[in-house]
Amino acid sequence: NNGVHVQNGVNGHHDDSNPKVNGVHNSEYIEADFTERYTVYSQDEQKYENVLKQHKITTEKRVPKLGVMLVGLGGNNGSTLVAGVLANKQGLSWETKNGTQQANFFGSFTQSATAHVGFKIDEKSGSLADVHKPVKEILPMVNPCDFEITGWDISQMNLYEAARRSKVLEPDLLRQLKAQLENIKPLPAALNQDYIASNQADRADNILTGTNQEIVNKLREDIQQMKRRTDKVIILWTANTEQYYLPEIATVDDLADKIKNNDPLPASVLYCIAAIEEQVIYLNGSPQNTFHPGVVEYARQNGGLLAGSDFKSGQTRFKTMMSDFLIGAGLRLSSVVSYNHLGNNDGKNLSEDKCFQSKKISKGGVLDDAIASNSILYPDGHASIDHEVVIKYVPFVGDSKRALDEYTSQIFMGGTNTISSYNICEDSLLAVPIMIDMLVLGELLTRIKIDGNGLGPVLSYLSFFFKAPITNHSEYVVNSFSRQRHTLINFLKAAAGISPDDQTLIGFGY
Ligand code: NAI
Repeated sequence: NNGVHVQNGVNGHHDDSNPKVNGVHNSEYIEADFTERYTVYSQDEQKYENVLKQHKITTEKRVPKLGVMLVGLGGNNGSTLVAGVLANKQGLSWETKNGTQQANFFGSFTQSATAHVGFKIDEKSGSLADVHKPVKEILPMVNPCDFEITGWDISQMNLYEAARRSKVLEPDLLRQLKAQLENIKPLPAALNQDYIASNQADRADNILTGTNQEIVNKLREDIQQMKRRTDKVIILWTANTEQYYLPEIATVDDLADKIKNNDPLPASVLYCIAAIEEQVIYLNGSPQNTFHPGVVEYARQNGGLLAGSDFKSGQTRFKTMMSDFLIGAGLRLSSVVSYNHLGNNDGKNLSEDKCFQSKKISKGGVLDDAIASNSILYPDGHASIDHEVVIKYVPFVGDSKRALDEYTSQIFMGGTNTISSYNICEDSLLAVPIMIDMLVLGELLTRIKIDGNGLGPVLSYLSFFFKAPITNHSEYVVNSFSRQRHTLINFLKAAAGISPDDQTLIGFGY
């Protein structure tokens, strides 16, 4: 039979009436026994030991009604997410100059991607085939069409007008959603104008006033309102990129003093504190340093859950794939130069240097792990590679962002290999599906326990969706696209009682 030997034909079968060895289902939980395998080296890397660790991963099966609260509801991403979810929920189609377009979730990892979950062997011929499953079917997940969405914005414009202002979606679709979108108005927002660009002042007509503590209390009331209408709430920052807040808030006491003394803090810190105190997830889609050590520790103490930062939607995703490809193949990537121009409000905000600097930092570190992985090519670490990022605001191109990259590598015997890419993308149409993923998976992660413990305070498994991921090990970050994807998929499979791929294919006589 071609060397194929199935050890236990019943493993991983999910049938409530007939619980099996792995991935045992009962009415409330999926319980999976998982053997983790890895190798640990001594500090001088001369000795190593293979480790096998047994874990029990438990996933609550009941999918809750999820309340989504967007900070920046009326922005390009916020209004596109709301309209996109409504269009999918109602199965809408609309006319474009290229014909009729149907609502879809393309670009969403959970809704449109599949994962390799195993193999199929034909009993008669012994022939081998892969089995792929939609990611959303690996474990029970919220359907984005069931999101209940509200949020805050410094602009009080209703969502129909906001979506028109964004110039992202087609008029024929917005016409069909007009009545529903007009009914959605952003809640008054927390704002410290000094931390976003001064050119945003003209849209700020919906602002909370009061002390830091009063504003946190008001945000908490808004969250409590949402909690009454739903089973679980997630807050997602998709508002303007703020300037870095420095020096960092080092401790919980430092944080408490700054709130009490009414020190001027960026609004993002106040939203995050409100989320932590309400024990709801806070996701940061922009590059600013909201997750100060004092804030992460506060989350740890209060059962808060955090993930971020900065959506990884276009250029950075591509960059972490290119570095996988080039460095992974043994080519010495030596210069990476990225130019962007865009004409949406994000670009306008980033045209002020203090906000651009946050983006530059977030985009700057994405190659670090790839470089650190290869001491043959990079004996001196990341200082030995030139990496530049330029962003310009060009209003005419609107949301249609241009990203021009040049990757130059040193190759065999002193040769040079230059690859240039020119990406024209609709920024919000790439970002929104990723926002949907982090909401769907963020919610799922709250239902998973490993050996009886919940995940957190940082939900590092969401790293796949962020440019500058934070983890529970501040010194250990994975940026590589393929590794991030494998980590996430293998974790989901382990929780479902499906073996993560070891990729050797030995057992099949390959
Ligand atoms: P946008 O400027 O259209 O939307 C931001 C919204 O936030 C605006 O409506 C603004 O009025 C509102 N806002 C500003 N400060 C606020 C506050 N303190 N509280 C509540 N609302 C506030 O920007 P867009 O294109 O929607 O992007 C949102 C964020 O996502 C930006 O920071 C951007 O850098 C980040 N991002 C976007 C990506 C993409 O679109 N592909 C990729 C990576 C990050």
